[in-house]
Amino acid sequence: MASLAVNIDHTATLRQARGNVSYPDPVAAAVLAELAGASGIVVHLREDRRHIQDRDVRLLRETVQTKLILEMASTKAMVATALDIKPEIVTLVPEKREELTTEGGLDLIKQETAIAKTVNTLQERGIQVSVFIDPEPDQIEIAEKIDAKMVEIHTGTFCDAKTFKEKDQAFFKIVEAVKLAHSLKLGVNAGHGLCTNTIKAFKGLSEIDEFSIGHSIISRAVFVGMDRAVKEMLELIKEL
Ligand code: PXP
Repeated sequence: MASLAVNIDHTATLRQARGNVSYPDPVAAAVLAELAGASGIVVHLREDRRHIQDRDVRLLRETVQTKLILEMASTKAMVATALDIKPEIVTLVPEKREELTTEGGLDLIKQETAIAKTVNTLQERGIQVSVFIDPEPDQIEIAEKIDAKMVEIHTGTFCDAKTFKEKDQAFFKIVEAVKLAHSLKLGVNAGHGLCTNTIKAFKGLSEIDEFSIGHSIISRAVFVGMDRAVKEMLELIKEL
């Protein structure tokens, strides 16, 4: 069974909507997600600090019992932060200030040298690196070439597709990408936009090691609580 890493960024989005309050605390969300069976806690410390704050990452480093996965841009400042915090895993993502959320994978073709340097710096210090990429064979081959330990396949295009045809095409690319990454002995994660409906498409795709899911779980948790929201997703993953 694939494991589930829960992204708790949007707990912080709710808190930051009021600015001057300390709730809801992502640290509490992480505890509840882990108690419900999450295998990892994911946070994206964005350059503009729109949701997760430095304080959250520091506290999570002390409190997370499973593994802390830090999503970040490949910048000098973020590499310094990662080396200081020492999460178990860093997922490198592209980052644009104006975007609502991460809009696509890294372009390893254009950025091979710079990303390779970041991967090497972090992995030399014992932090495993995953690269968030679109389901394209070229991107996966470069991920292997630069010695990243894992890839996270971007599932957003599939989740956002409006027609059956677009969905089928996007999912076919995911299947091919997952199988290629697995055959190259890379760890294979998948995420972005997944919810209780879209996760069902992954039935039988056993090469995926871990799903990274945030927005849909936190949204559901607002109504049914974190424990139930995480357990519902885990049940669906168990059926894949
Ligand atoms: N994986 C990556 C690399 C992401 O950037 C995000 C969003 O922060 C997710 C997974 C989770 O996406 P969602 O919040 O849509 O589940």
